[in-house]
Amino acid sequence: MFAVTATHTDNDDPLAGLTLGEHPEPRPAEGWTTVDVRAAALNHHDLWSLRGVGLPQERLPMVLGCDAAGIDEDGRPVIIHSVVGDATVGEGDETLDPKRSLLSEVHDGTFAERVAVPRRCLVPKPDGLSFEEAACLPTAWLTAYRMVFEKAGVEPGAPVLVQGAGGGVASAVIQLASTIGLRVYATSRSEHKRQEAERLGAYQAVPAGERLPERVQAVFESVGAATWAHSVRSLQPGGRIVVCGATSGPAPSAELAHVFFRQLSVVGSTMGTRHQLGRLAEFLVRTGVRPRIDRVLPLTEAKEGFRAMEQGELMGKVVFTT
Ligand SMILES: NC(=O)c1ccc[n+]([C@@H]2O[C@H](COP(=O)([O-])OP(=O)(O)OC[C@H]3O[C@@H](n4cnc5c(N)ncnc54)[C@H](OP(=O)(O)O)[C@@H]3O)[C@@H](O)[C@H]2O)c1
Repeated sequence: MFAVTATHTDNDDPLAGLTLGEHPEPRPAEGWTTVDVRAAALNHHDLWSLRGVGLPQERLPMVLGCDAAGIDEDGRPVIIHSVVGDATVGEGDETLDPKRSLLSEVHDGTFAERVAVPRRCLVPKPDGLSFEEAACLPTAWLTAYRMVFEKAGVEPGAPVLVQGAGGGVASAVIQLASTIGLRVYATSRSEHKRQEAERLGAYQAVPAGERLPERVQAVFESVGAATWAHSVRSLQPGGRIVVCGATSGPAPSAELAHVFFRQLSVVGSTMGTRHQLGRLAEFLVRTGVRPRIDRVLPLTEAKEGFRAMEQGELMGKVVFTT
């Protein structure tokens, strides 16, 4: 079958190890099943994998891709929950299983015509969502859902900040948070993306690092080093940073004096449970919110999507169709 794989990893030139071509058919283990992929979405995770982050040499070649929607063995439309983990070990939450992995870390991922997944990872796809829309949900949108609804601890009407409006996670946070009535400020390096952020529901979008008109109760962080100091300084006393990623680097100054003196909280967030993925899909059906998709490409043109992500050109998600 056709697949997009990492054949070697290179921190400085991640696209050098991106290989498109034939790959062996999946062979589902006991308790696993095969899904015919209709659409799969690109995440920054796929670039990290090509840089060798979380993907050691001995696991190569590895089919990339965490996210997909497709047809299961019984002919039902499904969304794949990408977390391969044991919910009982994680007290009901598979993301707390210390041995959890995402598809494409230990087991082949979704950028292929077919993918093997644990049967429990299948979530029914509502009719109201297209395969392309549904494919955006399992990583970026699920992460955003948990950040907004489980971790942020803010009530509708509260001011919040989303760093890096163009990102898959960030654009999802803007859409979810504005839909429930949060007053969403957003930053972006790009004027075009700031305009798009306001179209997606942001109350006001400002250049990265610019002082906000007011301090916020929560900040949604996925950018890391480039925006961390601004995030800390943008919070009201008692405010909270919810952080899921560090695209620009994981080790900024912790700004500890600000953290203790203004009694700030830093809360980590990763993915979401399979049940949350089902509720997220239902939320989109109920509200009419749909993922901002930057472009849809055939899987055979995947390199274009990876290149655009590496260059930081995207506003929202890239979706590949098989
Ligand atoms: N913990 C989890 O479960 C989880 C889940 C999903 C993602 N993540 C992580 O979250 C991060 C975002 O993922 P994504 O898929 O949303 O990525 P993406 O679509 O490629 O977005 C990249 C983001 O980086 C921002 N950015 C701002 N300044 C930057 C700089 N100086 N250098 C590089 N990038 C800069 C961009 O903002 P502008 O272009 O608008 O300025 C944009 O928001 C990644 O690090 C990813 O690994 C973690």
